[in-house]
Amino acid sequence: ITIRRATINDMLAMQNANLTNLPENYTLKYYMYHLLSWPEASFVATTTDVDAANEVIDGVQKDHASESATTTSQSSENVFQDDIHGNECTIKLDAQYVNKGEKVIGYVLAKMNDDPDAADQTLNGHITSLSVMRTYRRMGVAEKLMRQALFALAEVFQAEYVSLHVRQSNQAALHLYRDTLEFEVLEIERGYYLDGEDAYSMKKVLDVVK
Ligand code: ACO
Repeated sequence: ITIRRATINDMLAMQNANLTNLPENYTLKYYMYHLLSWPEASFVATTTDVDAANEVIDGVQKDHASESATTTSQSSENVFQDDIHGNECTIKLDAQYVNKGEKVIGYVLAKMNDDPDAADQTLNGHITSLSVMRTYRRMGVAEKLMRQALFALAEVFQAEYVSLHVRQSNQAALHLYRDTLEFEVLEIERGYYLDGEDAYSMKKVLDVVK
């Protein structure tokens, strides 16, 4: 498994992984916005063992489809709510996203906060989305993706801290952020997600990147 910087060529595969792994989905335009505005900040985990990846990822997608009310992966069409604008979009899910012999099995999508009206005008970054395909979990892939993104946000963009939101019920991600990467919980944002679940708003100061 290789961790490398994400490029525009990875956009479809990142969106595919996102749709497979998370209910928070984004338009391709939003991926493009990240990758064009902060090209050093987002990373993908890839494997060149494409046959093995296809086998397990196909299997995972089938498992996932039966669990998730919001996706219909088995029909290979995926209807999702655009997290930013609330629009309903339909995209075709394709398990065969192989690019130059590589398959994306995880990604971290990261940005700098660029809201000109934000009360806090210190340079700070944001983790928009992170996920790892199920069969490749608990191998340290997410931790490596996150450490690369945190390092890049600090080194390239001089971020003083980085923030993110995570569902209260998401034990795996909470463990990663709070215990492994030492993020602090700032507050609980009630009803943050479209389905009404609360979010932990988390922050990590980046003065010393470990
Ligand atoms: N339960 C408890 N702890 C866990 C779990 C779990 N299910 N999964 C991972 N961990 C722990 C690991 O043991 C490790 O802890 P350690 O440092 O004490 O050894 C730590 O978390 C990091 O583990 P990784 O192997 O790096 O994590 P992994 O590659 O499995 O990915 C992730 C974790 C991204 C949360 C994965 O489970 C996933 O893709 N989940 C679905 C998508 C998701 O929830 N994404 C995060 C949403 S929040 C956001 O995007 C900002």
